[in-house]
Amino acid sequence: MTRSRSWLFVPGDDPRKIGKALAGPADRVILDLEDAVAPTKRAGARALVADTIAALATENRERVCVRINPWQEDAANDDLQALKATLPASIMLPKVRSIDDLRAVDSILSQLESDTGQPTTKVIALVTETVSMTATMPAMPSPPKRVAALTWGGEDLSAALGASANKFADGRWLPTFEFARVQCLLAAKRFGLHAIDTLYTDFRDGEGMQQHANAALRDGFDGVLAIHPAQIDPIHSAFTPDAASVAHARRIVAAFAANPDSGALQLDGRMIDRPHLIQAQKILNRLE
Ligand code: COA
Ligand code: MG
Repeated sequence: MTRSRSWLFVPGDDPRKIGKALAGPADRVILDLEDAVAPTKRAGARALVADTIAALATENRERVCVRINPWQEDAANDDLQALKATLPASIMLPKVRSIDDLRAVDSILSQLESDTGQPTTKVIALVTETVSMTATMPAMPSPPKRVAALTWGGEDLSAALGASANKFADGRWLPTFEFARVQCLLAAKRFGLHAIDTLYTDFRDGEGMQQHANAALRDGFDGVLAIHPAQIDPIHSAFTPDAASVAHARRIVAAFAANPDSGALQLDGRMIDRPHLIQAQKILNRLE
């Protein structure tokens, strides 16, 4: 996938916010047809989203994702029908219940693509919004090829469980939600997909957002969801390595390049081996 650190949600019925999101620095913009749009506004939102995609400049095409409604609701099919002439680069599928939902969406998209001669639409799966999917993730079979990323959310899982909170007072996830987050991360990595951490709801809390984004990177996530333009800078700053880490990573790569026959070396009195080289390369890749 092209650069995809930050994923900004925008209600699909709000032309002003859509314009701002596309003009702003978010790597990806998610035009929402699901929870951010009242059912009475859905038809209008579908038309606005389809027109927005049709009018996108080529360089913006890859940036736009559309969150459709859950596969278990008729609205999902109406969403896809409204989008079929202008399929977005990616679709986010919420409230996934099992691999069957992903397979069903895969086959409909394949049909639409072959009917209209459009390129492959990727799928981003929200895998922790139903109890069935969350509970069975370690046994999930390999998803269809078009699934490019997995992400998770704590709000719909709370509702599905009947839980009255998802965080401790100090902001850490309660165990069930930490479990869901870890399952999402592990499943994504198991299948070589991007892992996208969930959003931080308190969008006026810049410091909290920064810690949230730092934790996402620290734990191995490749990106973070956002709901407000003010959350994009903290995400990019978390995912941009500082000068000291870049310099250190370059020294590790140089040390191995200078000693191609050594598996383990020392740098400043510390042992470095293959995992350190992989980490160093990951840091340097983030510069691009
Ligand atoms: N994308 C683009 N622009 C946004 C935005 C977003 N997600 N959220 C806010 N803005 C814009 C506002 O329009 C406003 O611009 P303006 O003054 O030029 O009109 C500016 O940023 C500041 O917004 P602010 O006043 O701080 O917030 P708000 O009260 O307008 O909106 C929310 C708050 C939460 C309603 C809004 O951030 C939002 O709609 N977020 C996305 C919700 C969503 O999609 N949820 C689904 C996933 S959970
Ligand atoms: Mg939701």
